[in-house]
Amino acid sequence: MILDIRKYGDPVLRKKAQPVAKITDELKKLAADMVDTMRYEPGVGLAAPQVGVSIRMIVFEVADLGLGPVAYVNPEIIEKSGEVASEEGCLSIPKISGDVVRHKRVTVKAMTLDGKEAVVSYEDLPSRVMQHEIDHLDGILFIDRLNPIKRALLRAKLKKISSTDYRLRKE
Ligand code: NI
Repeated sequence: MILDIRKYGDPVLRKKAQPVAKITDELKKLAADMVDTMRYEPGVGLAAPQVGVSIRMIVFEVADLGLGPVAYVNPEIIEKSGEVASEEGCLSIPKISGDVVRHKRVTVKAMTLDGKEAVVSYEDLPSRVMQHEIDHLDGILFIDRLNPIKRALLRAKLKKISSTDYRLRKE
C-alpha cells in the first residue's frame, strides 16, 4: 500500500522517534508499505516518521548495487570514518537538493524484521542513505546540514513547502 509522505513543516518530522520494543505483524506490514511507497516515489530510503509514524524504523533499497529492500529497526551508527560531500534530497522536502558532508563509511547495528541483530557496514551511497534516514529518526533533516549560505538561499522555498503542503494535509 502506498502511504502519504509527510512534508517539511509537519511536526512529526521534527520529533525524536520512539524505539521499537517488539517486532509485530503490524510493524512488518508498515515496513512492507514503506518499501512500496519508497519504490513508488521513487527513493532509495524512507524513515517511519516520513509516513507519520514516529518510531525508529527505516527501509532502504539501492537497486543499482543489489542492496535491499531491507528494513532496519532501532538502527544505530556504531562506527564511522571518512568524510565526503555529495548532493542529497529528501522525499519530504520536494524539489530541493544540496551538498551534504557525510561519513564515507558507517557501521550500523540494528534489528531486522526476523528479530535478529544485524551489524552491517556501508560505504558511499548506501552509507549516505543510512546516515540520512537515521537522522530522520532524530528529527534531523538534510537541510539542517547544508552550509548556512545555502540554507538562507532556500528559506523562501522551504517556507512555501511548509505552508502549502502541510496546510493541505490538515483536514
Ligand atoms: Ni529524507
